[in-house]
Amino acid sequence: MAADRDQTMAETDNMDARQAAAALQWLAEMGADEAVLEAPVNRFSASATGADAPAAQERRAAPARPAPAEIRPAAPHPSPAPSVQPAQCASLEEIYRALDGMKDFPLRRTATHTVYTAGNPKARVMLIGEAPGRDEDLQGKPFVGRSGQLLDRMLAAIGLSREAEEPDKAVIISNVVFWRPPGNRKPSEAEVVFCLPWLERTIELIAPEVIVCLGATPTQRLTGRAQGVLKLRGNWFSYNSGGRAIPLLATLHPAYLLRQPVQKRLAWRDFLSLKTRLEERARP
Ligand code: URA
Repeated sequence: MAADRDQTMAETDNMDARQAAAALQWLAEMGADEAVLEAPVNRFSASATGADAPAAQERRAAPARPAPAEIRPAAPHPSPAPSVQPAQCASLEEIYRALDGMKDFPLRRTATHTVYTAGNPKARVMLIGEAPGRDEDLQGKPFVGRSGQLLDRMLAAIGLSREAEEPDKAVIISNVVFWRPPGNRKPSEAEVVFCLPWLERTIELIAPEVIVCLGATPTQRLTGRAQGVLKLRGNWFSYNSGGRAIPLLATLHPAYLLRQPVQKRLAWRDFLSLKTRLEERARP
């Protein structure tokens, strides 16, 4: 073990800048792009669910070993009380400033940028994703990575664009969570609950004619349904925004479509349904 470590250290010591950059890029591509997680994790008390499951199962199979006394379960992260409440914000800029100023919120601390909205606030259509990824965090804009590029192509196929100035052809895009969860993990329940009132206020201010939820997280949150997105997609729901009913379409997340290209036909059906709905509503 010690010999292995000494050899690894000698190898990294002898790296030139190009080799070090290649090693870093390799680590990032493997998903190891954070030095620390948002909160300390007590691996001794991790449950057998979620991403830890195989490791936890292995641990259970091994003879029980007492946890060192100094290791305590990670305390739940208290969400700081924001100094400004969503209802006090009268514009998207005010919401953005409030969110960006939340330096005590763990996700804000690990993020490079607050990722809020992209597109035209006068758009008829608002799209809502889950949470920013690495590219979005670096650029400070939602859906700019590979899934964003696929989303733009899908929108263009039905005559919509985040660049359009005409509200009829425009979209605005946001997410349920406004900061990248470290390592692109799924946002936790506490993170979603913290961000939700800010998303709700954002929807109220934009007052879109139609909402499109991309994937399970926004769909389940905004419809209150617990079924999987493959069951919910293609259906129209009604979202209550401050007493105003907004039609809401559930569809698949573009990142899922990149992993399962065969499912693009389902998303295409959903986008055609969106197009038809917009045309019907535009009729005098
Ligand atoms: N996936 C999301 O859900 N949102 C983004 O902004 C980017 C990727």
